Amino acid sequence: MKRTVRQLTSWLYLYVVKPILFQHKPDGVHSSMVRLTALVQRIPGVRVLPKLWAYQNREYLGQTIHGVYFSNPIGLSAGFDKQISMARMIKAVGFGWMTGGSVTWGEYKGNDGAWFYRLPKSKSLVVNAGLPSEGTAVVAQRVSAYSKQTFKDFPLSVSVAKTNSKATATDDEAVEDYCASLKEFDALKNVKMLEINISCPNTFGGEPFTTKARLEKLLSAVDALQLKKPVFIKMPINLPKKEFDQLLKVITKHMVTGVTIGNLFKDRRAAKLEDVLPEYIKGNLSGTPTREVTTELIRHTYKKYGDKLTIIGVGGVMNADDAYEKICAGATLVALITGLIYEGPQLAGTINYDLVKKLRRDGFSNISEAIGSESH
Ligand SMILES: Cc1cc2nc3c(=O)[nH]c(=O)nc-3n(C[C@H](O)[C@H](O)[C@H](O)COP(=O)(O)O)c2cc1C
Repeated sequence: MKRTVRQLTSWLYLYVVKPILFQHKPDGVHSSMVRLTALVQRIPGVRVLPKLWAYQNREYLGQTIHGVYFSNPIGLSAGFDKQISMARMIKAVGFGWMTGGSVTWGEYKGNDGAWFYRLPKSKSLVVNAGLPSEGTAVVAQRVSAYSKQTFKDFPLSVSVAKTNSKATATDDEAVEDYCASLKEFDALKNVKMLEINISCPNTFGGEPFTTKARLEKLLSAVDALQLKKPVFIKMPINLPKKEFDQLLKVITKHMVTGVTIGNLFKDRRAAKLEDVLPEYIKGNLSGTPTREVTTELIRHTYKKYGDKLTIIGVGGVMNADDAYEKICAGATLVALITGLIYEGPQLAGTINYDLVKKLRRDGFSNISEAIGSESH
C-alpha cells in the first residue's frame, strides 16, 4: 500500500504540483515551504501522510558508522534546511539522516538578488545564496529545543561555514570563526556529526580553505578543539585532480572522519546543460550536472583512502540507480537536495525501497557490503 502511495505521490508531484510550483520564482517557493513546514510539523497528525512515503528496512539498510546508527543511508544535504527548522518533517518523509546548515557564527542575511534559478531540463539549480544564517547561537538553541526523540535513529549532522563578512576575511579570523561554531555544536546532545564547509563558492573572500596550506591551518586548529563527534569535510568538485589529492592528503593527517563529495559545480562553462543559462544569472550548479564528477571523485577517493576516510556521496542523486552507483563507488552514506525538488517528497522512500531490491539482486545482505563493491 505504501508503495502505491509513493507512486501516486510521484505522479501527482510531477504532473500537478511541480508545474504549479515552477510557475513561481524558486526563492519564494522555498521560503514559503520552509515557513509552512516549520509551522505545521509540530502537529503530529500532519506527519501521518509524509510517513506513508517512508520505507523502513533495517535489516538491509541499517548500519552503525563511527558509533552512530543510521536506519537508512539517504540523507538531506546541507543547504535545504539552513536554520534547522524542519527536522521533524524531514525525518517523517523517510530520510535516514540530515545535514542542517550551513550555519555560520555570525548572522548574515544572504546575498542581494535571487538566490536560486531553475534549469529544469538539466535537473539543476543555480545557487547564489551566499550563506544566509541566523547565526550559531540562535540555531544551536533551536536544535537543543527539539526533543531527543526527533533525532532518535535520525542523526543530525551540522554543517559549519565561515561567516560571510569582511570581519572574517583573514585566515586567522576565519579559523576562529569556524572553531567557535564547531565547539558550540559539538557540545549539543542532539548533534551527532559535524561537517566543515570549506568549499562554499559564494562567500566574501572566495573559497579560503581549499588550498593545502590554508586547510592545514584550519585543521590544525580543529584538532586542538578535541571534538567528540565525527567530523566530515565538504569538498570542492572542480579542482584539478592534483589539488584535490593534496587536500585529501592534508585531511588524512588530521582528526577528520571523512569527506563529503561534494559541493556545487563551479565551472559553469564545463557543465553539460540542456537549458540556456544566461550570463547575468550568478551562482553555481547543483543536481544532474554534478552527478558524474562527484561519483568519479568518490571512486578515486575510495581507491586511495577508503581505509582511512568515510565518504558521504552527494551530487545529482535523482533515483536509486544514482545512489547505488555512489555507494558501489565507495560512499557509505548518500545525501541529496535537488532530487527532492525535481522528483518530489516521496523520493527518499522510493530510493530506499529500490535500493533493497538492488541489494537482493546483487546478493548483499546489508548495504554495508555494497560500499565500494565495484572495486573489490
Ligand atoms: C538550494 C541549495 C542550497 C545549498 N546550500 C548549501 C550550504 O549552505 N552548504 C553546503 O555545504 N552546501 C550547500 N549546497 C550544496 C548541496 O549540499 C549539495 O552539495 C549540492 O547541491 C549537490 O547535491 P544535489 O545535486 O543533490 O543538490 C546547496 C545546494 C542547494 C541546491
